[in-house]
Amino acid sequence: MKIIACYSNKGGVGKTAASVNLAHVFATSGRRVLLCDLDPQGASGFYFRMKPSKKLTEAGFFQDVEKFTGAIRGSDFDDLDVLPANARFRDFDIFLSRMRDDRSRLKKALKAVKGDYDVILLDCPPNITTLSENVFRAADVVLVPVIPTTLSQRTFDQLTDFFRDHDLPTKKLHAFFSMVQGIKILHGETMAAMREASPKRFLEARIPFASEVERMGVHRAPVTATAPASNAARAYRALHDELCDRIGP
Ligand SMILES: Nc1ncnc2c1ncn2[C@@H]1O[C@H](COP(=O)(O)OP(=O)(O)OP(=O)(O)O)[C@@H](O)[C@H]1O
Ligand SMILES: [Mg+2]
Repeated sequence: MKIIACYSNKGGVGKTAASVNLAHVFATSGRRVLLCDLDPQGASGFYFRMKPSKKLTEAGFFQDVEKFTGAIRGSDFDDLDVLPANARFRDFDIFLSRMRDDRSRLKKALKAVKGDYDVILLDCPPNITTLSENVFRAADVVLVPVIPTTLSQRTFDQLTDFFRDHDLPTKKLHAFFSMVQGIKILHGETMAAMREASPKRFLEARIPFASEVERMGVHRAPVTATAPASNAARAYRALHDELCDRIGP
């Protein structure tokens, strides 16, 4: 079982879009997938037409296996389950701060479903908190969408520094360019500069800026399901293939 966290300390960069589409691609390629929404905004659940997991409290999530597994729902797609978020997830940090081993609690919680899934995707909220440190410790891969702009470059450098300062393995960090606009010269220049600065960190696959992805909010389904022949869907499949090459079977 592999845990892949779609994470960035920057908001609105395509974490949820990547989580939802990768979850679908992993499931259609024969993996049993759980998409766990850690963001109280609950966007991942929304895209899979689910209501928030109202009954799941912070204590239930981290300390009660039955409540945790009871909140998991089947999606419209085979082999793809979702743990939808709810507003209480915004208090995860307060809850974690009161616990011993407050940085490894998520890893423990996910152990409960270890045998049930081949891949667990975590859709993360955009900040660096105690919850994020839990994510960094639990995940095999921290997958970071980066919009190729100067500000994103700065945010990515901050994340890399955070890993170094906290003795976290930077080899877990895998980034890809998100919402790429081919006609923007600055996008091209920033991608080249960032690849040169961190040659191994960036995947080749890049997600184009595409209206199909924006329309996911209308269809409430992954673009890889509603528009499989689109450039965006192709790009998410390429991202999946490259990730599989990096992390192994
Ligand atoms: N490749 C894309 N092309 C065009 N629009 C996109 C693309 N990816 C995401 N979007 C749109 O950009 C917005 C932010 O995307 P998304 O919700 O995936 O980002 P996020 O990083 O999860 O945001 P947050 O930090 O709020 O959780 C959404 O409206 C989404 O539809
Ligand atoms: Mg999101």
